[in-house]
Amino acid sequence: MFTEEERQGLYKAIYRRRDIRSFLPDPIPEETLSNLLNAAHHAPSVGFMQPWNFILVSSQTIKERLAWAADKERRALAIHYEEGRQEQFLQLKVEGIRQAPITICITSDPTRGGSHVLGRNSIPETDVLSVACAIQNIWLAACVEGVAMGWVSFYKKNDVRDILEIPPHIDPVALLSIGYTDHYPDKPILESSNWEKRRSLDDLIFIDSWGIKREG
Ligand SMILES: Cc1cc2nc3c(=O)[nH]c(=O)nc-3n(C[C@H](O)[C@H](O)[C@H](O)COP(=O)(O)O)c2cc1C
Repeated sequence: MFTEEERQGLYKAIYRRRDIRSFLPDPIPEETLSNLLNAAHHAPSVGFMQPWNFILVSSQTIKERLAWAADKERRALAIHYEEGRQEQFLQLKVEGIRQAPITICITSDPTRGGSHVLGRNSIPETDVLSVACAIQNIWLAACVEGVAMGWVSFYKKNDVRDILEIPPHIDPVALLSIGYTDHYPDKPILESSNWEKRRSLDDLIFIDSWGIKREG
């Protein structure tokens, strides 16, 4: 059972957690990093598959190469936006890989557990979904440890495979930049930069069938 204070603590972490892209150079203590990795490793996973691995990157040379891959992708994606929106997109900071003292590449191994992982036969992407649960655990644990995390998904997977020498069948699901920050905003950065707003929860809830809104 959870005490009232513990319950409030969980919700506080859920509401306070932010995606961060600016970091201080201060290193993360080993014990804190270990707490984050243990939090990840206790995430749920389909058929208890635990498809994750964690590549801990603190080499500046390798971080530079990852940042290059992310920047290349960011510039390539800019063409998808109309003029105006494109400039706004290019002004957004979408990663802090060079700055953050450590970046964790979290991967998914679709072969782990053999070919008949319980539950994965119906929906194969449940392996990656399991990794996403592990990422959220790291994010919330980082938040309560006073540590900032930024999820970077701007990259071509093969670039990251090449840089980190990841075998072709392993999926590099995310790059997680981890470090301390002197600015941990209250609102999502994409909200304060007028890119997107939080939708109304009521508009997203249907009752019994798709599209049927709750009364009143
Ligand atoms: C699957 C996923 C991929 C993301 N990729 C990026 C990314 O490449 N760069 C970035 O700046 N933020 C990335 N984010 C962070 C989102 O932009 C952020 O979660 C969202 O704007 C809401 O802000 P908040 O996390 O501070 O609440 C990603 C988040 C998720 C869940």
